[in-house]
Amino acid sequence: MGRLVIISNRLPVTITEKKGKLSIRPSAGGLATGLNSLKNNYEVIWVGWPGLPVSKAASKKTINSLLQEMAMHPVFIDSSKFNNYYGGFSNSTLWPLFHYFQQYTDFVSRTWQDYKEVNGLFAEKVAKIARKDDIFWVQDYQLMLVPQLLRSKYPRATIGYFHHIPFPSYELMRTLPWRDALMRGVLGADLVGFHTFDYVRHFTSATSRILNYDDHYLGRVRFQNRVVDIDSFPMGIDYDKFAKATHDPEVAKELERYIKETRGEKIILNIDRLDYSKALPQRLRAFDLFLTKYPNYRKKVSMLVILVPSRDTVGRYRRLKEEIDRIVGYINSKYGRISWTPVHYYYRSVKFSRLVAWYKLAPVALITPYRDGMNLVSKEYLACKTDGKGVLILSEMAGSSKELIGALQVNPNNTEAIADALHQALQMPEEEQIKRVRKMQKVLQRNNINYWARHFLERLQEVHQASLTIYEQFFNPKVEKQLLAKYRQAPRRLIFLDYDGTLTNFRSDPALAAPGKHLYQTLSELSQQPENQVILISGRDKETLEHWFGPLPLDIVAEHGAWYKKNGHKWRQYAKLDNSWKEELRPIFNQFTDRTPGSFLEEKNYSLAWHYRKTDPGLAEMRKHEFMDKLSHAIYGKSLQIMEGNKVLEVKNVEINKGTAAKRWLANETWPFILAIGDDYTDEDTFKAMPKQAYTIKVGFNETAARYNISTVEDVLSLLDKLL
Ligand code: UDP
Ligand code: G6P
Repeated sequence: MGRLVIISNRLPVTITEKKGKLSIRPSAGGLATGLNSLKNNYEVIWVGWPGLPVSKAASKKTINSLLQEMAMHPVFIDSSKFNNYYGGFSNSTLWPLFHYFQQYTDFVSRTWQDYKEVNGLFAEKVAKIARKDDIFWVQDYQLMLVPQLLRSKYPRATIGYFHHIPFPSYELMRTLPWRDALMRGVLGADLVGFHTFDYVRHFTSATSRILNYDDHYLGRVRFQNRVVDIDSFPMGIDYDKFAKATHDPEVAKELERYIKETRGEKIILNIDRLDYSKALPQRLRAFDLFLTKYPNYRKKVSMLVILVPSRDTVGRYRRLKEEIDRIVGYINSKYGRISWTPVHYYYRSVKFSRLVAWYKLAPVALITPYRDGMNLVSKEYLACKTDGKGVLILSEMAGSSKELIGALQVNPNNTEAIADALHQALQMPEEEQIKRVRKMQKVLQRNNINYWARHFLERLQEVHQASLTIYEQFFNPKVEKQLLAKYRQAPRRLIFLDYDGTLTNFRSDPALAAPGKHLYQTLSELSQQPENQVILISGRDKETLEHWFGPLPLDIVAEHGAWYKKNGHKWRQYAKLDNSWKEELRPIFNQFTDRTPGSFLEEKNYSLAWHYRKTDPGLAEMRKHEFMDKLSHAIYGKSLQIMEGNKVLEVKNVEINKGTAAKRWLANETWPFILAIGDDYTDEDTFKAMPKQAYTIKVGFNETAARYNISTVEDVLSLLDKLL
């Protein structure tokens, strides 16, 4: 296995400077604490921000060597740029929006510019240390552009991206002015991971609605010439580290002290970074209500709030701190006695042994964020309950709620329900506590941090391999060179060209897709070369094709083969076909067209086609399945077929397809050079009808019977120009 290069905004250590002296301490937050455990299993190289602005060259040098000893590589960012990137775009735009705090979301193009630049700095730093075969793993919302930046530097590299915070519904994502660039940035990866299936669903929906990549199947999206997998990998914790730590002498000492100091009061534990997404004011209000509603618990319980300082350069965080101070003061003044303080409140980070002691001691943990990507504190609390006793009250909006089904789950907006859950927790019989905790511990023990990382990295390599296979099938310069050489040598050449999606891009109204001057000229020259036999092979009706291409010296196949015309001759029918079915099916087509805004019916001589390119993708998907179901009953026993093209469902006679039509040109002559290009399902029949040595090329990256895939219509046109 090669090296694993982790790229994250925060390194697992943070450097601080006091009176010119540098000191190093572990970073807070789920990402840093979680990934730090990986180094036991991989040769991990870490690229990230060192935790402070550094301007002096001498300090940079010292920090560099300090970190490099731990295989970490700092990205230095000047302070105003950093503020815009971190306090600005990351934490005043992406963070609030992705946590559904739209009212806190700023849209400022200056901070976006700096976000882009700083993402660039991260990619440059990676480039300085990267080696062939390294695996790159980009972490979180601060670096959404980095996967694509790395992809453009290293087209064949293995790149993963993990998003540690919620991914919002498309309705919120669409409000971001820079949504396209961010989505494309992430899709530079081979594998995109989220904590829960909901976030996967939202991201996949955004790829299709924002970028129009609806080419996805079972969580796989074909993006440009690669496959990108999108899946959920719920992040675990270093379970054994927490469970074992409960037996540490240092933890035992802390525990003894707290047992004495709390004098039998039951502790309701709250540990969070200072963040509005964690809903601490709401929790304090619920505690207030609890003490009013269940007065017997006064003096018997107290709430312990450990608030870890975070993002204090952002105004919103500072104001939140003031609000919490006020509420804590209010509760303590309302219920407090000389002998009893209802809320113990600390604004600081705590060392590991103290954290474990609190986890072990507290009979109840109250964790009710409004939104949380995962929430590791809830998992760590359970890991420390080695005797199985304890109750977790958990927000159903935390990612961890999907796994921790033994917790008392509450809606964080429901103050009453939280107060009642506290009551239920404090009354819960030990037997039930143990049953619930053990069940959850089993899951956490198995899905630990190593499992999470191993699982993600294995999948990453698998998907990467699939991408390389596609890359091989890609119409690359080497294949193009061979094709051109064969073309030049061949005394006779047969060329099949589909029209829509192959020679021209799709338009909202098919009538608008008439050939431009350049394309017309290309087709004219191509068909005039005496060695060439060019056949335009299309699903369109013959009238339109005649109108657009009638004067050119080429052959035309219309309506997927129902009609054909040889150069200089009249249009001919494939065979006398029965058309009476149209009367019966037309009302069904009309009904679906009426029910589906943006769709329309096209009637051709021998087929009916329902187009839904302009329809909302979700609705189109739903209606399409319903329509297909209805049609399959309606055509039962008839010699008809339903064909699914590019945003079109078409019913036509079963004998007709482009493959049977194409064979007409293959029957009487052996061609030394054959080229067939098409883009959709209907062109697969053409590809299948071709002899093995033919150059068959599919536009786009779907599965195909063609030998090669090519990216775009523009690439096809450029190839035709080269033939000339
Ligand atoms: N934590 C910490 N320092 C502290 C208190 C907690 O580093 O003083 C850790 C805690 O153990 C947990 C992480 O911070 O691993 C918080 O992760 P979580 O997913 O709960 O929330 P996030 O901070 O990522 O939003
Ligand atoms: C969450 C984010 C992390 C971030 C952490 C602490 O866990 O997902 O990316 O590192 O919070 O936030 P901070 O802004 O201090 O790095």
